Amino acid sequence: MNQLSDPIAVFDSGMGGISVLREMTKLMPNEDFIYYGDSKHAPYGTKTLEEVRTLTIEHITYLIKEKQAKAIAVACNTATSAAVRILRDMYPDLPLVGVEPAIKPAVLACEHAKVIVMATPMTLREEKFHKLESIYDKQADIYPLPCPGLMEFVEQGILSGEKLENFLHNLLDPYKDKDITGIVLGCTHYPFLKDTIQKIVGSSVTIFDGGYGTAKELLRRLTVANLRQVDQNHKGNVTFLNSSDDPALIQRSRKLLQY
Ligand code: SIN
Repeated sequence: MNQLSDPIAVFDSGMGGISVLREMTKLMPNEDFIYYGDSKHAPYGTKTLEEVRTLTIEHITYLIKEKQAKAIAVACNTATSAAVRILRDMYPDLPLVGVEPAIKPAVLACEHAKVIVMATPMTLREEKFHKLESIYDKQADIYPLPCPGLMEFVEQGILSGEKLENFLHNLLDPYKDKDITGIVLGCTHYPFLKDTIQKIVGSSVTIFDGGYGTAKELLRRLTVANLRQVDQNHKGNVTFLNSSDDPALIQRSRKLLQY
């Protein structure tokens, strides 16, 4: 039986989910959070479905059973595509949210939107993305853009600079003549690269990410389950855990939360 003061666990393949955690701490400042990054096994986006599913289920089960998490956010698009449905069946009473590319707001932002969806190869291969795409592809042009290698910049703490800009030019320059109206950041690592992406594509392109929507959905589910922290004087704290034993990762995680 969970206590209202138990922590909310946020899980990602590495440090990208901190972009979602940041929205959650702003929206729920009285809650305690555990952030678990599986940097030892990152990246997830180029692994097989079975590998990602096994790793995600193993880590979430640890957070529920060993860390008494009262709610779970799978703050990784790849892990969400691979495992959230199964996790909901395994833990039907627990508030559990995943993330999804913010295609809807990008499509609805203008008359006939032309939208690039940047994500990992697995996210773009999986059913969850194809379902979303099929809802909106009649009213907009949607260009899925797999970005293997991009999340690694964030894992290494590289959020700007020439090397990153060259990498992004290679990805995005082929769309220059398409009059792109929006870019959806379909991986939770990419919001940390937003300024550099904006620099590459120019200010006429709007960039969308789903972090705030995920935080709102978690708040809604916690409220419905009557699991909100009741002590309004409690200042929530964040505990960082990582499967890698590199101490620099925890330091980098704290920095990213302030970013
Ligand atoms: C990755 O581990 O490859 C990125 C995870 C994501 O899809 O958010």
